[in-house]
Amino acid sequence: MNKYQHVPVLLNEVLEILQPSPEQHFVDGTLGGGGYSAALLERVAPSGKVLSIDLDQVAIDNYRTNLSDDQSARAIIHHGNFRDLDEIVEKHDFRDIAGIVADLGLSSYHIDASERGISFQKKEPLDMRFDVTKDTPDARFILNNHTEAELVKLFTDYGEEKFSRQIAHAIVRRRQETFLHYTTDLVEAIQEALPKPVKHLYQDSARRIFQALRIAVNHELESLEQFLPKALDLVAPGGKIVIISFHSLEDRIVKQFFVEAATGCICPPEFPICQCGRTPRAKILTKKPITATEQELLLNMRSKPAKLRAIQKL
Ligand SMILES: C[S@@+](CC[C@H](N)C(=O)[O-])C[C@H]1O[C@@H](n2cnc3c(N)ncnc32)[C@H](O)[C@@H]1O
Repeated sequence: MNKYQHVPVLLNEVLEILQPSPEQHFVDGTLGGGGYSAALLERVAPSGKVLSIDLDQVAIDNYRTNLSDDQSARAIIHHGNFRDLDEIVEKHDFRDIAGIVADLGLSSYHIDASERGISFQKKEPLDMRFDVTKDTPDARFILNNHTEAELVKLFTDYGEEKFSRQIAHAIVRRRQETFLHYTTDLVEAIQEALPKPVKHLYQDSARRIFQALRIAVNHELESLEQFLPKALDLVAPGGKIVIISFHSLEDRIVKQFFVEAATGCICPPEFPICQCGRTPRAKILTKKPITATEQELLLNMRSKPAKLRAIQKL
């Protein structure tokens, strides 16, 4: 059986917004299991193209292996970070982009089969990198080298964890005796840190701490912040940007960027003519974020936190 498994989230909604048609060009910033890329490729046939990007070489190889000859000729596949979208598009001379989609974060493969310590429920080395082909710091490095204050900040900012101070303290105490190597080492530190009345709820804290570390290891929020303005610059007028996020930190960045892009004149109402010269660059297509239907939730519980927001460039 194929080791790379991921059920695409909100696929119908993405296609409904992007309205792909023959000969158009789309960018999928987060290839993953290829669910969006394959659906887009099919709809832009016979000559449209899809540029698919992923940080994870396993996702890239998996997609490439499963393409038909017709698809291969129209699929442009790039191993890299969507934050470098301008350079990637330039490198592949990819123009007239009708839409850009990014389905943020991790895929089911990362949790179920990557063996990179992303889930706290299995004993695995604490790696957490999406791109393991580069020698960048992993979760082990952060846990064993960051100062206690840095760990508190990381757990608070990216995990919104109430017991960040206690957990960071327990980690630092533990690492004076032994190197924290496995997910189980971190889970034990979390259990030890929590006050007695909430110790039995350690899984909630573990989920938040693991999320925080993953975000930090992969610089997820910085990449998103760099990607969004590039996407807006690069998409053709009338083209759309669709982003699916999975936690409030990401969603806040997307929402703020979209609101900003859609904001026109900000002069006080008493000004007879505009002095600021600002014009909106985009129109918001989703007043409220779109979430998974009951039907989708029945088939895929992992779609529950997904929030889709979209804009159209003017
Ligand atoms: C939720 S999955 C995408 C699933 C995909 N839409 C599908 O239908 O199968 C997210 C993917 O984005 C990749 N990823 C995360 N951050 C990235 C980044 N900054 N640049 C490129 N790929 C990234 C991950 O490696 C993962 O494969």
